[in-house]
Amino acid sequence: MKSIAHEGNTFYNGDCVTGAREEIEDRSVDLIITDPPYGIGGDTLHRHYNRDERYVVDGYVEVPESEYAEFSLRWIREAERVLKPGGSIYIVSGYTNLYHILHALRQTSLREVNHIIWKYNFGVYTSRKYVSSHYHILFYEKPGGRRTFNLEARYGTGEQAPDGGSLNYQDREDVWVINREYKPGQVKNKNELPTALLTRMIQYSSNEGDLVCDFFMGGFSTARVAIGLGRAFVGFEVSEPIFDAGVRDLEKVEPGFLLSSLRSPATGSPKNQRKRWTSEERRRLDRRYQELRGRGKTRKRSIEILQEELGRGRWSIVRALKELSG
Ligand SMILES: C[S@@+](CC[C@H](N)C(=O)[O-])C[C@H]1O[C@@H](n2cnc3c(N)ncnc32)[C@H](O)[C@@H]1O
Repeated sequence: MKSIAHEGNTFYNGDCVTGAREEIEDRSVDLIITDPPYGIGGDTLHRHYNRDERYVVDGYVEVPESEYAEFSLRWIREAERVLKPGGSIYIVSGYTNLYHILHALRQTSLREVNHIIWKYNFGVYTSRKYVSSHYHILFYEKPGGRRTFNLEARYGTGEQAPDGGSLNYQDREDVWVINREYKPGQVKNKNELPTALLTRMIQYSSNEGDLVCDFFMGGFSTARVAIGLGRAFVGFEVSEPIFDAGVRDLEKVEPGFLLSSLRSPATGSPKNQRKRWTSEERRRLDRRYQELRGRGKTRKRSIEILQEELGRGRWSIVRALKELSG
């Protein structure tokens, strides 16, 4: 099978089932993120997404609907074999053939972790029914090991959203609103996954140096983001023109190039979180709060500053201020 090695990562031009069988050892992959063909006639996809088809790479290989069940079982069994115990898999699926994928998953040892809904823009336009604008992302694990889930990879558990909620909680809800990337005038695959979507899965479910795999590379988007986040990568694409287009773009992919764009989560609890308030600390709170407000700071900003200065959480400060005001 034709392959290209780039910076320690390997890309195979061939069928993922045969390729995985020949090239990937049992229990060697930490994370699989993949987006199989939909089995709905790929050539009409451009109409749904209202795109200029001139920039879409030709050669997308579809799977006839009549073969979809058997096809899903074959590649999912390979995915199960190559995953390490405790490894994770995310499968992106439309609605039409979702039941085949769910059925195949049930015939393996893989276990459901979450069924995520990805809501995107440019939904399929309709006039006599609701507009379809979501995909399913099936997040499963291989039993037998401790699954990586980096709770504070993106937001510390104590970080507050502007509406007072928890940023960490909001980021981990199982409905993801992430727009497709609009790339006018640029060459693209028929259904490229957005960087923000891939970044989220990779940050939560793997660590730097882990091996990430995509059975259906298409536009190499999983590869680009995994390598960009300092992970190792292996993947398959059966179509030669699509593979060749992906390989051409690899020159622009430097290992770790996305790491500097990640936000730094404020992890760890405030240092005085569980300590009792002393009367001296209450006096300091009162004095500093009056000072900050006197200097024109808003109540919200004053509380943020006091959180830092006193090593206390927001609610603890709000409660103490309330007690001080009688
Ligand atoms: C939905 S696309 C993947 C899109 C990709 N996630 C991206 O962001 O660009 C599915 C891809 O799988 C490829 N494909 C179809 N059958 C395959 C097979 N048996 N083995 C490997 N790739 C296959 C198609 O040619 C297509 O490029």
